[in-house]
Amino acid sequence: MQIFSTFDINGDLTMAISRCLFVAGLFVMLTCSAAKKMNVLFFVSDDMRPELASYLGPDFPSPVHPNMHTPNLDVLASMSLVLKRAYVQQAVCSPSRTSLLTGRRPDTTHVYDLVKYFRKVGGNFTTIPQYFKQNGYMSVGMGKIFHPGSASDNDDPISWSVPYYHANRSFWNPFGHEHSWLSVNESMQKEYPLPDQQIAQHATETLKQLAPDAKSGKKPFFLGVGFHKPHLPFIAPEQFFDFYPPEDIRLPDNDYAPVGMPPVAWSSYGELRNYGDIAKLNASGAINSTLPPQVIKDLRRAYYSALSFTDTLIGTVMNELKNLGLADNTIISFWGDHGWQLGEHGEWCKHTNFEDATHAPMMVHIPGKTDKGIATDALTEFVDLFPTLVEAAGLSPLELCPEGKSTETILCREGTSLMPLIDDPNSKTWKTKAFSQYPRENGKIMGYTMRTDRYRYTEWVEFEGAPKYKPNWSALNATELYDHMTDPEENHNLAIDSSSHSVVQELSKQLHAGWRDALPLENE
Ligand SMILES: *[C@@H]1O[C@H](CO)[C@@H](O)[C@H](O)[C@H]1NC(C)=O
Ligand SMILES: *[C@@H]1O[C@H](CO)[C@@H](O)[C@H](O)[C@H]1NC(C)=O
Ligand SMILES: *[C@@H]1O[C@H](CO)[C@@H](O)[C@H](O)[C@H]1NC(C)=O
Ligand SMILES: *[C@@H]1O[C@H](CO)[C@@H](O)[C@H](O)[C@H]1NC(C)=O
Ligand SMILES: *[C@@H]1O[C@H](CO)[C@@H](O)[C@H](O)[C@H]1NC(C)=O
Ligand SMILES: *[C@@H]1O[C@H](CO)[C@@H](O)[C@H](O)[C@H]1NC(C)=O
Ligand SMILES: *[C@@H]1O[C@H](CO)[C@@H](O)[C@H](O)[C@H]1NC(C)=O
Repeated sequence: MQIFSTFDINGDLTMAISRCLFVAGLFVMLTCSAAKKMNVLFFVSDDMRPELASYLGPDFPSPVHPNMHTPNLDVLASMSLVLKRAYVQQAVCSPSRTSLLTGRRPDTTHVYDLVKYFRKVGGNFTTIPQYFKQNGYMSVGMGKIFHPGSASDNDDPISWSVPYYHANRSFWNPFGHEHSWLSVNESMQKEYPLPDQQIAQHATETLKQLAPDAKSGKKPFFLGVGFHKPHLPFIAPEQFFDFYPPEDIRLPDNDYAPVGMPPVAWSSYGELRNYGDIAKLNASGAINSTLPPQVIKDLRRAYYSALSFTDTLIGTVMNELKNLGLADNTIISFWGDHGWQLGEHGEWCKHTNFEDATHAPMMVHIPGKTDKGIATDALTEFVDLFPTLVEAAGLSPLELCPEGKSTETILCREGTSLMPLIDDPNSKTWKTKAFSQYPRENGKIMGYTMRTDRYRYTEWVEFEGAPKYKPNWSALNATELYDHMTDPEENHNLAIDSSSHSVVQELSKQLHAGWRDALPLENE
């Protein structure tokens, strides 16, 4: 092993060594120095549902506006493994991000709100950037990756090699909380540089600084870049609104709550109603009340525009990666932290267990492996990304969290590496269900939901919080069943229909058995 220690001076050549083990003699040096560790560019977007041109398709659950202008994410998709049916573990920022970043589900992280910090209420879990840092990477974060503030003790400092960067928040919303959306002209952008523009600029500057060590193989990087849009308020430069002529914007065709929906499933979208322009409409947020049609169209148009704005900034960072000659050796992942309801069911924002809130975009580009682009309809979960990036970068794989001991285990996974889907996007042995959850009544009720190939099935049950964090399946509040084969918009709750009895019984058993029971065959 002596010869390998020569290469170990940089302390981060584990993969190079493992690739070289079978290479003998004098060629070792040449072969090994070529096997540099891959960098990781880790993009996050806030509140971005899979409203991307690359997600248009026959069996696509969310209606995608036909002329979405997302050229940069489309390019990324064309050279990535695209998870067309990826689901978040809880449809709200901090619980979803915490879950993805620790590779664990909310009932392990114990984070169900925007306040609690997993290291205080869950366990001292290793996060994705932290694991790369521990493996010799330069781990750098900026923008919104963890939910900021108390929910992450200010961006989980232990995860990063250098202090975290935030854009200047005083430009967040130059007009206070009055406008839910805004088209800004060039002179305003100069006066109030938008936070995401600041982040993209900081990312390109950071890439320039990281490039020399990354290219020489001295120090690979893990660069996390979190954009704030298309989160409310939908603020974007005016040229992005031009991609969406007002006359092209359609109303959702289901402006009513699902027939037979139990009230506990509903969220009255206070997050949107808080903005001055919406508040003055006196909207109650009640089930089957709707916003005025023109307001719905304006909001949809502004959301698409803010999404296209984010797409452009992602392109700026990707182009810099290319210009610096780093593209061939950098893994790129992209995800939006959850879905978003744009008036479907008369519902807005996230905070529900519906398809539109739990379904989110996720894609991974791995140079040499996904370059031709692979789209899969396999059911995938956000907890799958951690083991995927670890495997793609050739780090030591994560063990499945031991049953009943997830919270005591510092490094483990509750998801499954997505790498097998690259070779077989239609795998018959892949996991059969995706699980999400959402609390109600201050956590006294938990809605557990499960997506199968055909159905979405949900049970709202009483929930016991700290220290047990357990549902009481016998204390059932309500049940929902949507058949995606006949009802992709989830307009009819079939659980109330007696003819669904046997399906409900079977799915109920599967929901109670949980995610471990749905793991891919090779993981059992
Ligand atoms: C959490 O784990 C990290 C290593 O992963 C360690 O440095 C830190 O001291 C631990 N914190 C606590 C409170 O145990
Ligand atoms: C943010 O910008 C405002 C306005 O220009 C300035 O007063 C403030 O000092 C800036 N804050 C930081 C942290 O740079
Ligand atoms: C830009 O927008 C601001 C705010 O609406 C407005 O006051 C200003 O006149 C606009 N500038 C131009 C050049 O249109
Ligand atoms: C909402 O409207 C739908 C469609 O008209 C109706 O079937 C459903 O019962 C209504 N829900 C409630 C709770 O009023
Ligand atoms: C909203 O309520 C206020 C106070 O009751 C009333 O003055 C106003 O006209 C209402 N606006 C609309 C759009 O109904
Ligand atoms: C679960 O709920 C059932 C029905 O309400 C109740 O009888 C039982 O005591 C509850 N179990 C626990 C552990 O609270
Ligand atoms: C379900 O929970 C709601 C609160 O969200 C409560 O008002 C209702 O009575 C509960 N129904 C049942 C059947 O427990």
